[in-house]
Amino acid sequence: MFETEINTSVAKAAAWLHKGEVVGIPTETVYGLAGNALNEDAVLKIFKAKNRPHFDPLIVHVHSIAAIEKYAAHIPPKAKLLLQKFSPGPLTVLLPKRECIPYLVTSGLDTVAIRVPNHPLTLQLLQEIDFPLAAPSANPFGYISPTSSYHVYDQLHGRIPYILDGGVTDVGVESTIVGFVDDEVVVNRLGGLAVEEIEKVVGKVRVETQQSANPKAPGMLQHHYAPKKKMFLLESAGKATDLEAGYILYNEHLPYISHQNQILLSPAGNLSEAAKNLFAAMRQLDKSDVSAIYAIRFPEMGLGRAINDRLYRASVNE
Ligand code: TXA
Ligand code: MG
Repeated sequence: MFETEINTSVAKAAAWLHKGEVVGIPTETVYGLAGNALNEDAVLKIFKAKNRPHFDPLIVHVHSIAAIEKYAAHIPPKAKLLLQKFSPGPLTVLLPKRECIPYLVTSGLDTVAIRVPNHPLTLQLLQEIDFPLAAPSANPFGYISPTSSYHVYDQLHGRIPYILDGGVTDVGVESTIVGFVDDEVVVNRLGGLAVEEIEKVVGKVRVETQQSANPKAPGMLQHHYAPKKKMFLLESAGKATDLEAGYILYNEHLPYISHQNQILLSPAGNLSEAAKNLFAAMRQLDKSDVSAIYAIRFPEMGLGRAINDRLYRASVNE
């Protein structure tokens, strides 16, 4: 057990990491639970702190594209183009790993998921330490990802010594995960970088986000990012008839439901703003006394696609 401290000191975070402990770190997407990716004991502590099965591989965080070359054996030309355009940022690339990356990090796969997070404190931290950070989202396995240091504290206090406080995250959904098969670009997880942006750089991509259990990418497990309350994803407002439930909506209230039970993710109608507010809204309703949580499908474009993906996985789909 630890007395968990929340603080903005990068030096303190570095000191814990040097000791082989794991700490909460801010990124532009969601908070991560970070440990030395080259130290198997530290990596084991990550899995343990969030009750994560070992078959679910971790993302490795580094401070620059040059640092990616230290841990990836090869960077295909299209991966390089995307990295140059979007790093630091919410882009994770799947690349063949070098030997120094333990199989514990990749769950036995020969590829490593790697990214440069765009948060000033975490970039400073990555500069200060001489190892990369393995970091899954800092939530208990299967629950909603944290978008503030308070969310991390709420669920992991006592299990980790330190949370580096970088405020509320900017993007609000996890990074977009992109793989490279022959010369093709494949999006494996919809996330904070819109598919349209990727296609502007490398042309048409294939989107292949499994909607069932898949040991290769369990972040893609059908039931994930889920609140404790039952959640349902509706195709249209007409189906929203449960007066006791809470509602997650885009930019318009439902006229016949009490306003208190509705959260508009972006009254101005901006999908990036909606993504930023999504997980906090799910947490808020999960903690409130509504009977269940309903969401109505968002426009299937830009970050709306990642929002719909998270809402779908959080919902009861049997
Ligand atoms: O935005 C993010 O990506 C956040 C922040 C903290 O960086 N991290 C994050 O990590 O979302 P996590 O552990 O919640 O999701 C990582 C997912 C895994 O569940 C898996 O689907 C995929 O990344 N992944 C990791 N390594 C992989 C690999 N070698 N091949 C295929 N998928 C991989
Ligand atoms: Mg996660």
